[in-house]
Amino acid sequence: MKPRRILILVASPRDNGNSTILASKAVEGVKAGGGEADLVRIGRLNIAPCNACDACRRNPEAGCVIKDDMEPLYQKLRDAQGVVFATPVYWFTMSAQMKLFIDRTYAVHDEDGYALTGKDVGVILTYEDEDVYASGGVNALRSFQDICAYVKANLVGAVYGTANKAGAVRADAKLLQKAYDLGRKVAAKK
Ligand SMILES: Cc1cc2nc3c(=O)[nH]c(=O)nc-3n(C[C@H](O)[C@H](O)[C@H](O)COP(=O)(O)O)c2cc1C
Repeated sequence: MKPRRILILVASPRDNGNSTILASKAVEGVKAGGGEADLVRIGRLNIAPCNACDACRRNPEAGCVIKDDMEPLYQKLRDAQGVVFATPVYWFTMSAQMKLFIDRTYAVHDEDGYALTGKDVGVILTYEDEDVYASGGVNALRSFQDICAYVKANLVGAVYGTANKAGAVRADAKLLQKAYDLGRKVAAKK
């Protein structure tokens, strides 16, 4: 059987970022679960906002008319059986970098559904405040829940916790283990 391909999208722009560190743990988990992991730092890419021109709806085969760093990611999404979204909490929800990516998945829509339809999805969040409520992490979780329900993706699990300074999450062994377990679970899902 071919290994399941899991795309891990990290929407922090900073080096040694906490969400990136957890995402790397998820990569280890994916590999341990027999999957193939592809980590992409979307927070560093040039991804323009969806301009709502609807050209993708008029001509689905042509796809999105915006030519930027999103182009190769459409194919990566098609090829993946699972996707892990890792994002810092910015202003009480997911980062703008993550939202730009999600908006642009609008361009994939045909009789089979959307870009994430039928895929297994994991979510990783880091934030400064003391818990998922005070930080606004709940708003990001709720968005991912709604997105998955709408496009009929399977939300496998979410891992989230407090870490502020770049790299601080390395001291949280429990959280690192949870991220690893999430990767493993997404890779092993049937
Ligand atoms: C623009 C900006 C907005 C932020 N907003 C929040 C927030 O609303 N709630 C919170 O708990 N932390 C907030 N933070 C802190 C980050 O979520 C926290 O430092 C996180 O660990 C960063 O993840 P990273 O290391 O993966 O970049 C904010 C940080 C930045 C730069």
